[in-house]
Amino acid sequence: MFFCNSGAEANEGLFKLARKFGHDDGRYEIITTVDSFHGRTLAGIAATGQEKVKKGFEPAVAGFKQVPFNDLDAIRRAITPKTAAILIEPVQGEGGITIATPEYLIGLRRLCDEQNLLLLFDEVQAGHFRTGKFQSWQRILERAIGVNRPYLPDAVSMAKSLGGGFPTGAFWVRDKFANVLSAGTHASTFGGTPLACAVALKIFDVIECENLAGNARDMGDFLLRELQKVQQRFPKVVKIVRGLGLMIGIEFQPQFKAVEIVKELHQRNLLTVPAGNSVARLLPALNLSRGEAEEGLRIIEKLVVDLADKE
Ligand SMILES: Cc1ncc(COP(=O)(O)O)c(C=O)c1O
Repeated sequence: MFFCNSGAEANEGLFKLARKFGHDDGRYEIITTVDSFHGRTLAGIAATGQEKVKKGFEPAVAGFKQVPFNDLDAIRRAITPKTAAILIEPVQGEGGITIATPEYLIGLRRLCDEQNLLLLFDEVQAGHFRTGKFQSWQRILERAIGVNRPYLPDAVSMAKSLGGGFPTGAFWVRDKFANVLSAGTHASTFGGTPLACAVALKIFDVIECENLAGNARDMGDFLLRELQKVQQRFPKVVKIVRGLGLMIGIEFQPQFKAVEIVKELHQRNLLTVPAGNSVARLLPALNLSRGEAEEGLRIIEKLVVDLADKE
């Protein structure tokens, strides 16, 4: 583990790991995906698959290219003799809550093994129990992979829930590559201070004692089911609802803009965030109660009814 202070910094660690790993063979390229989000540093925006975050900050840091998400052939075609790593979010957050398929994750692992590439996961938003398991790839694969077939990426970045609101981040590197970034090649003054680590440990305690992974799973399933019923009643307003644990995206029909929807929900006392053009993203606290979930649902349903009436 390497401890740092934010998600963007954790991803910088992954980029440096990939560059150091490929350095002696002249490999430095990292393939990422369209609609991904990897942070606001210069390399973070180069890795991110959204034009709006790059605009005005050109020239981009070299060595990143994006291909469509959940498309193994696109990744395969993008690999060159200069490729060192593949980086994805197993659940794309800012991109609109798009979940990797188990086949995609398994295929990426196989491809990276065949081509000697690092498989890097950005779990900054989806990780740390938000989807009901420690990391989201574990939740996605829980039914697809048997206990006898362990699945591991080569490195994972984390932040957000890791500190439960206190600024901290980290990246984990698989044993096999643990010495790629040796002492002196990477460092951070405030990374892993006793205060940040004490907070992160306490967060682990609370998550375990209050069974918040189970709560994220149960409340997430409940919200998803109920929101899908709303979608079925009002398909002209809500296009689709998707999610995993407490990471849910409500995609509205394209005439409804996400920023407007989020502003309207805010005025009705529900905090959500936009993703893409028309997705309202729900990322409630992991200790969300059933009563709070129902209250939120009522607010969303009322807004959908009001929008349908106006149509
Ligand atoms: C998937 C992902 N990666 C990286 C980041 C950047 O994290 P931070 O804002 O802590 O730098 C974010 C933030 O939204 C994110 O969602």
